[in-house]
Formats: sequence, structure tokens, C-alpha cells
Amino acid sequence: MRILAIETSCDETSVSVLEIRGSIRRPVFNILSNIVASQVKIHAPWGGVVPNLAKREHQANLTLILKKALKESNLLISNFQFPISKQILTPKYQILNSILEREPELLKKLTPFFKKYKAPEIDLIAVTSGPGLEPALWVGINFAKALAMAWNKPLIPINHMEGHLFSVFLKKNRKKNLKFKIENLKFPAVALLVSGGHTQLVLVKNWLKYKLLGETLDDAAGEAFDKVAKMLKLGYPGGPVIAAEAAKSEIRNKFKILNSKFKIQLPRPILNSKDYNFSFSGLKTAVLYLLKDLEKKIPDFYNRKDLILAICVEFQQAVIDVLIKKTIRSAQEYKAKTIILGGGVAANKELRLQMAEAVKNLKIVPIFLMPEMEFTGDNAAMIALAAYFHWQKNKKIGGISKIAADSNLRLK
Ligand code: KG4
Ligand code: ZN
Repeated sequence: MRILAIETSCDETSVSVLEIRGSIRRPVFNILSNIVASQVKIHAPWGGVVPNLAKREHQANLTLILKKALKESNLLISNFQFPISKQILTPKYQILNSILEREPELLKKLTPFFKKYKAPEIDLIAVTSGPGLEPALWVGINFAKALAMAWNKPLIPINHMEGHLFSVFLKKNRKKNLKFKIENLKFPAVALLVSGGHTQLVLVKNWLKYKLLGETLDDAAGEAFDKVAKMLKLGYPGGPVIAAEAAKSEIRNKFKILNSKFKIQLPRPILNSKDYNFSFSGLKTAVLYLLKDLEKKIPDFYNRKDLILAICVEFQQAVIDVLIKKTIRSAQEYKAKTIILGGGVAANKELRLQMAEAVKNLKIVPIFLMPEMEFTGDNAAMIALAAYFHWQKNKKIGGISKIAADSNLRLK
């Protein structure tokens, strides 16, 4: 079967086609396409994602990205049955008009697309329905509903965080021949899902069976990286820039001296609390006070690259310490046979290295899974893969009219 997936929960517009062959017990997956268009440049001047700008960009780009994804999958076939103009008047297209009533931009782009191309050979459409930015989610949902209606295909809503969880299995199709299987997963598993909007520790009891063990009480881990980078005038998104600063080798030797001379020490919020929650807003405030103090002491503080580097190292380590400690403790308590790391922050190399090390040091070493770098950020391939498992479990899908954006959608 082939699944077409759409992801627009934040600032990436993505469409993917996943092909599944083999038996139900041993499915073999192949990512035929996974197009991701980032809006980073558009949001950068604001130092964070602006929901309405994100919505506008998704509206402007979705049809083009769909076309690219279908073309790359060899599924874009021209419709030669002209003239089609009459078809536009059929009831189906009238429904389409009503679905896209609030998305005139999408309607304008999709109508000629439907006229020009045949319904592709796919079996299922999947779309992220939450959590995420509501205006952004709605564009993807309305777009997916329009495709499902026009092509007469079932539509399945998928939780974005579940997508990040499944991202650990994805393998890039480099030469159109790299297929992958789901292996190496034993239950129970604990999954640390860290993104720009969420930080969650999840117990995975079995396929699609979750219990949320803890989450952030305020800022998400990625959000903390973004906000601290902004304070340090390093740009957006903050995760990659702070990680790059912290990785500069020259600081390693100087770090200890700077650290003690300027008291660059940051707290590890709720590191020892008995629950599995996180809190990063206090850490952000601690950086703010540290900066105020340093600005007073050092007039050209923002030109002191060594100090900025030292703060990046300390901040990154503070986040990593908390994330790892709580993950490892939950793995011990629940006797996890697998530990999963996923989400945009899973691109952080130090986090990857240190988590792998911490897992290795456990008495009974569980399997450790994290996504290939390419699949750490938002992408539609992970949504397609999660959709496959839901489809196998329950092929009776409710009406598409019930599918709605839920910015706080929870894993159950
Ligand atoms: O999952 P994601 O792509 O989008 C959301 O669902 O939010 O995560 C984006 C977040 C951003 O906050 C970004 O700063 C962070 O992931 N991020 C990183 C790194 N690369 C991206 N955080 C730390 N280190 C990185 N290397
Ligand atoms: Zn995400």
C-alpha cells in the first residue's frame, strides 16, 4: 500500500509518500518521497514562529510540495480527459468548495491541480491533527480533507508527537532501493520526545499504547534553546546555533577558568523531583540574570565570544543533564527494554552522545533508538509511518468531517 502524509503543525510544510510491501507481520517500508520546506527564514526576524505567517506559508506552498512529492514518487500522472471544466461543477467539487471555503488560497491552487492530474495511486491519506499551532494545523487538515474528498481516499488524523516517536525507524531512500523494516523494538519502552513546542516522557506499553509519564510545566526544551539564543543575540532557531557554539573546541580548555572567574553556573531545574516533569523557564530566567550581571561587569560583553561560548556550553549541559537523568530514572522504574529519543532537539549531538553513554551504563542495557539526523525535525514521513500502524489496527475510519485541529492533542 502507499500512504500520502501531510505535516503542517509548525514551521515546516511537508508531504511524503511511504510505500509498504511484504506481509503484515514483516512489512517492508520505502520512503518514495519526503519533501520538507522550511519557513525558518520567514520567522527568523521575529526570533520565533509566528502562527499566522506559518499558516500563510503553508497555504502558499502545499500544492507545490504535493506536486513535488508525487513527482518524486512517480505518481504524478497528467489527466488527458479534457475538457474537465464540467467536472468542476459536479457535486464532489461543490463539496470541495465548501471544505476549502476558509482556505481560498488553497482552493485557487488545488482546483487547477485536480484538473491537470489524475488521482494518484495511493491507498490512504494521513495528516497531523495536533499538537501544534492551530492555524497551521488547520491548513494541513483542510488540504488533506480536500484531497481525500476529490480522490475518494480514506483520511486518518495523526498525533505529531507519535510521529516523532516513529521517526526513529525511518531510513532515507538514497538510491531508491534502501528499504527498512521495524526491528529492534521491545516493550515496555520509554520515549523522550523533545521539540520546539513539547517535552514529554512517554511510557510505550505496546504498539500505540501510551502513558504520559511527565512533560514540561512551562517552556519546552527546544523553546528554551530558541529563547536563550535570542538573549545571546545568536539568531533563530536557537538549538542548532547554541549547539554549534558549544561544539567549538577552543572553549573546552578555557571553560573551567571562565566558569569560575565569571560564575557561569546555571541551575538544573527540578532535576531531583520525584516526578517525570520538566521545567525550563527558570533556566531561561537564570540565563537572563547571568547576562545582566555580566553586562554590568563587562562593558563589551556581547563581543566577548569566549564568554558567549561558555554560556552556551553550560546552558546546553544544564538541559541535557535534566533530560537524561529523568529518562534514565523512568527507564529503571519501568524496566524499559527500549529507550527512544525523538523530536527536533534530538538533533543535538551532545544529547545524542551523552544519552547513548548513559544508556550503556545501565545495569541491563536496553535497546537505544534515535532518528537519523534528517528525520529529527518535522517531516511527513514520520506521520505516514505512524498512520500505517493505526491503519493496521483499525481500518474503520470515521467520517472526515470529524477531523479537527487540536493544539493540545495528548498521547493515550
Ligand atoms: O520537532 P521540531 O522540528 O518542531 C516542533 O515540533 O516544535 O523541533 C524544533 C526545535 C526548535 O526549538 C529547535 O531549536 C530545536 O528543535 N533544535 C535543536 C537542535 N536542532 C533543532 N535543539 C538543540 N540542539 C539542536 N542541534
Ligand atoms: Zn515536531
